[in-house]
Amino acid sequence: MKGHVWRPLYVVIGLVVFILLVRMFYVPDDFGAQDRGYTFGFHRLSNEQEWKDYPQKYQGTVYCADCHDDKTEELEMAQHGMIPCENCHGAAMQHPEAPEKLTIDRSREMCTRCHAKLHMPTSARHDLPGIDPVTHNAEYQCSECHNPHNPSLEDM
Ligand code: HEC
Ligand code: HEC
Ligand code: HEC
Ligand code: HEC
Repeated sequence: MKGHVWRPLYVVIGLVVFILLVRMFYVPDDFGAQDRGYTFGFHRLSNEQEWKDYPQKYQGTVYCADCHDDKTEELEMAQHGMIPCENCHGAAMQHPEAPEKLTIDRSREMCTRCHAKLHMPTSARHDLPGIDPVTHNAEYQCSECHNPHNPSLEDM
């Protein structure tokens, strides 16, 4: 064969050897297909424990009931009942140890991310009751009039 055939071939062989070498040093020993094969087991085995040890950020609404049962009961029956507490108050983390208190966000933006009226019927978000934030009592916080835990208009 001619040189112009060999030369690119050397480059390719060189590349393959280089990649294999890098792979040897770079890929951790316990990486590979585990018990459950390539579909679910294609990972580092020690990574399973790492994720188990990873601190959970969101605790879920059931967690709040132990100490704030007045709120969980109120919310349960309300139109906002489907919204997890942490959607409005942020991730509980290790609360009440750390943080001792969760944020209370009274900004209009907290509510308008769901209630600013959308004019394009593109998704279920469009079906939420909407207001125009510019004209709807713009000088007040929403929770001065609406109870965020039980926003029923009948109880206002
Ligand atoms: C083990 C008991 C406990 C659990 C569980 C708990 N909290 Fe608390 N929470 C407290 C204590 C104690 C405080 C601080 C005292 C206070 O202000 O009521 C507090 C404060 C708060 C505050 C601030 C109240 C304020 O007036 O500043 C919010 C908001 C809150 N918690 C929300 C939640 C949410 C949401 C959950 C569930 C994800 C939750 N908490 C789970 C005990 C708890
Ligand atoms: C739709 C958003 C939203 C949801 C969902 C929500 N909260 Fe609140 N929460 C607020 C706002 C806003 C305030 C401040 C109300 C005010 O201005 O008095 C508040 C106030 C509080 C307070 C402190 C003031 C008080 O009234 O005693 C606690 C504690 C609290 N929420 C706990 C919870 C818990 C527990 C849940 C779930 C069961 C929950 N919240 C769900 C928005 C929300
Ligand atoms: C994560 C989305 C979400 C957030 C954030 C949220 N809401 Fe809602 N809101 C809803 C849903 C869902 C309903 C129930 C709609 C239904 O029943 O059709 C609702 C219902 C309401 C209603 C009753 C409307 C009616 O026509 O009866 C009011 C008022 C309301 N919310 C005010 C607020 C206020 C004030 C805040 C901020 C403190 C807030 N919402 C935050 C999703 C949200
Ligand atoms: C000054 C009091 C006041 C403030 C502040 C206020 N609202 Fe209202 N809101 C009302 C009243 C009263 C109604 C019922 C009559 C109406 O539709 O205007 C209402 C109606 C609503 C409805 C139902 C609309 C519908 O068509 O079913 C939603 C959703 C709502 N408000 C969300 C909010 C949000 C989000 C904020 C803050 C950005 C807010 N409101 C601030 C008094 C207030």
